Amino acid sequence: MKKKRHTRPGGPSELLTPGHWLQWAIGEYERHDLSLGQISDNAHDEALYLILRTLDLPLDSEPDVLDIILDDSHQAALRENFSQRIAERVPASYLTKEAWLGEHRFYCDERVLTPRSYFLELIPTMAGYLPTGVPVRDVVDVCTGSGCLAVLLAYEFDRARVDAVELSPDALEVAKINVAEHGMTDRITLHESDVFDAVPERRYDIILSNPPYEPSAVCEALPEEFKHEPRMALDGGTDGLVIIRKLMAQAVDRLQPHGIVVLEVGALKPVVQETWPKMPMRWLKTQDAMNCVCLIRAVDVMKQFG
Ligand SMILES: C[S@@+](CC[C@H](N)C(=O)[O-])C[C@H]1O[C@@H](n2cnc3c(N)ncnc32)[C@H](O)[C@@H]1O
Repeated sequence: MKKKRHTRPGGPSELLTPGHWLQWAIGEYERHDLSLGQISDNAHDEALYLILRTLDLPLDSEPDVLDIILDDSHQAALRENFSQRIAERVPASYLTKEAWLGEHRFYCDERVLTPRSYFLELIPTMAGYLPTGVPVRDVVDVCTGSGCLAVLLAYEFDRARVDAVELSPDALEVAKINVAEHGMTDRITLHESDVFDAVPERRYDIILSNPPYEPSAVCEALPEEFKHEPRMALDGGTDGLVIIRKLMAQAVDRLQPHGIVVLEVGALKPVVQETWPKMPMRWLKTQDAMNCVCLIRAVDVMKQFG
């Protein structure tokens, strides 16, 4: 929805329309120095999202929706959600119980990381890294959390069977909801497993993962909003590489000879390169980043770990 100018209201009693709430909220986000990045990287878009979804309005509502006069129950719902967002720093996604990746809505709550991922842009490009004409039959999303990336993989590779691996039984409950809501129960198999430990033997064309990769010390210092997220979704151990190391070592027995591993590693590129200096990696560019996701071919995984 396009931005629209509204006079900044003087106080809560003057918050009569969604437009008033939006102007008020933008000011409050700044005044309280709220951290962003879970729903959007700017206060306007996150506040607008929280208003529209609290009111159960579509995200592509026409701008004149900002001028409707809200009734008491809507005012109360907005007061409650903004109070939790501002005073307790609860992520907006946990208040609305959803997050969107492109056009796809995912159920989400405190049991999982809020879906936000470079993979939305990258999954459609992945077939381009496989040999021409080789059908993509088996793909796996390791550390699936809400299941959002497994669902995106299933949409992209509509003939493939998709495995989704997760250690947290709580997160798996959320993944189960999303797999069902997207009508993918026949296509996606959920596995409760520490990386590949309990996953039946199978070799994949694509191993994709957005694992926990923040070094533990970074986790300690995260803004409150991110501390509401499960620690095990973020904490990658002392150097951030604990899960990544295990995944790479196990990938050697899990890849087709033509297969690829695609890994989100956040800010760890220098650490990853220092750890495996001889392993060729391709760093994939997205609109917002160029060094956060790497792609490794099966042959190079074999040379390093075989
Ligand atoms: C960064 S979150 C990613 C969630 C989801 N893939 C996404 O992109 O929104 C990492 C997930 O890995 C899970 N996890 C942590 N350790 C794991 C392990 N050893 N094996 C499998 N999953 C693990 C966490 O519970 C969490 O759900």
